[in-house]
Amino acid sequence: MRRLLPGPVADVDPMELYPALARPKPAGRPWLMVNMIASADGAVAVEGTSGALGNPADEAVFSAVRASADWIVAAAGTVRAERYGLPRPAAASRRARLAAGRTERPRLAVVSASLDLDLGLPLFSDRRPGDTPPVVLTGSAAATEAVKRLEPFSEVVRLRSPRPQPAEILAELDHRGAGVVLSEGGPSFNGQLADAGVIDELCLSVAALLVGGASSRIVHGSVRSVPSRMRIDHLLEASDTLFIRYVAAPTG
Ligand SMILES: NC(=O)c1ccc[n+]([C@@H]2O[C@H](COP(=O)([O-])OP(=O)(O)OC[C@H]3O[C@@H](n4cnc5c(N)ncnc54)[C@H](OP(=O)(O)O)[C@@H]3O)[C@@H](O)[C@H]2O)c1
Repeated sequence: MRRLLPGPVADVDPMELYPALARPKPAGRPWLMVNMIASADGAVAVEGTSGALGNPADEAVFSAVRASADWIVAAAGTVRAERYGLPRPAAASRRARLAAGRTERPRLAVVSASLDLDLGLPLFSDRRPGDTPPVVLTGSAAATEAVKRLEPFSEVVRLRSPRPQPAEILAELDHRGAGVVLSEGGPSFNGQLADAGVIDELCLSVAALLVGGASSRIVHGSVRSVPSRMRIDHLLEASDTLFIRYVAAPTG
């Protein structure tokens, strides 16, 4: 993998690069990264999942980005579509995490209002030694029976609002010691994060594919009228895929 900006540098290992980057904790909440892959024409899914957009280079960056976070948060639509399991980093990721002062594995939090989550999803049904159950973050309006159904397989946390707000989600993870949280989406959840103005870092992979269709963009449903400005921190390339790390630009 080569680094085009700043650079050029002929050969970089994302696992050496991403986890070691500085991510200072903003006041009262963790640093928030968002990681997404899109096609050259902006699609985030092909036939309902992101799998066809990726390649081994993207998998290497995906692992390195995950190795940079204490907690991974994913919204229920993504968890259902992508059939999420618990994070089980490979040895190189675990080493990079420990070198950066993190625990060996990130924790997983799922955001759902309905709690309509299939117990056959790997994150509930595939439990192995060393795994820690997922945390399901829901709202005060969640039905008690729905909470009870998930409790044998996860820790269900009811947040104050009927539908949890980004600030409450980040406050809960802050309370649990998260310095860096990684959102893996999906687009409608990212839209709420963008509206709340809490995205500190966007890791965007751009695949050399034209998909067409009606797929959503990486941030969807935002009601903000003023775009959030970001700057490019680095740009990598491998297998015709671009890996752009944006960080929020100071306002004003
Ligand atoms: N290309 C990529 O990198 C990438 C990454 C992620 C996802 N994707 C794709 O994006 C699609 C899914 O994205 P999406 O935008 O449709 O859905 P999404 O944002 O993943 O999930 C939406 C769902 O999450 C829950 N949710 C969201 N915000 C919430 C809140 N504030 N409080 C409580 N629950 C909340 C709700 O679940 P309940 O209905 O359970 O209440 C809601 O229906 C899939 O096709 C997936 O493959 C692509």
